Amino acid sequence: MHIAIISSSIRPGRNSHRVGLHFKHFIEERHLAGCDLVDLQEYNFPVFEERLRFMENPSEQILHFADRIAKADGVIVIAPEYNGGYPASLKNIIDLLSSEWKGKPTGIVTVSTGPYGGALLLPSLLFTLWKKGVWVVNARYHVSNVQEAFDENGTPKDPAVTGKRTADFTDQLHWSMEARRKMLEDQ
Ligand SMILES: Cc1cc2nc3c(=O)[nH]c(=O)nc-3n(C[C@H](O)[C@H](O)[C@H](O)COP(=O)(O)O)c2cc1C
Repeated sequence: MHIAIISSSIRPGRNSHRVGLHFKHFIEERHLAGCDLVDLQEYNFPVFEERLRFMENPSEQILHFADRIAKADGVIVIAPEYNGGYPASLKNIIDLLSSEWKGKPTGIVTVSTGPYGGALLLPSLLFTLWKKGVWVVNARYHVSNVQEAFDENGTPKDPAVTGKRTADFTDQLHWSMEARRKMLEDQ
């Protein structure tokens, strides 16, 4: 099984990437799945113009990105809160793909420097993912005061409590990934 973690902040000095690093280390150290940290900062995508399936000459970058999402059995979206919503960089890549998203077990991790852990972005992100046919996993993970909760390498300040939360979250995602795999095998 294979998990893609989408780190969606492309801001210089971003903090939410720390949470993406934490998930990558956690999954790899416990051999829960293969793990690919998909860093949108590395792509520098232009503002969305058209869906991949309607592009005549998609760039290598777009094809490379789409392939990473298509290959994943499950996705973790690391979503920072910007003014009560999620960043344009994330909307860009959700709108870009189609079949790659369909039925894909996906967990949402919201992040902010404020006290509410980015929870305010959930209604808008959930609605968009639902419209795309994504299988959003019923697991909650909100990170408040991220700059204090994780260091730059993704090491949590409180490893015991954070590890338990991360284990619960990845367990639920893994359950959905397994369930989908079995359903696809039976088809
Ligand atoms: C444009 C913008 C808007 C933001 N709005 C909020 C907000 O509404 N509430 C909040 O708690 N933090 C807000 N923040 C702080 C981010 O949550 C914070 O930067 C956090 O580290 C996650 O984003 P990052 O990964 O880009 O750093 C905002 C940051 C930016 C850049």
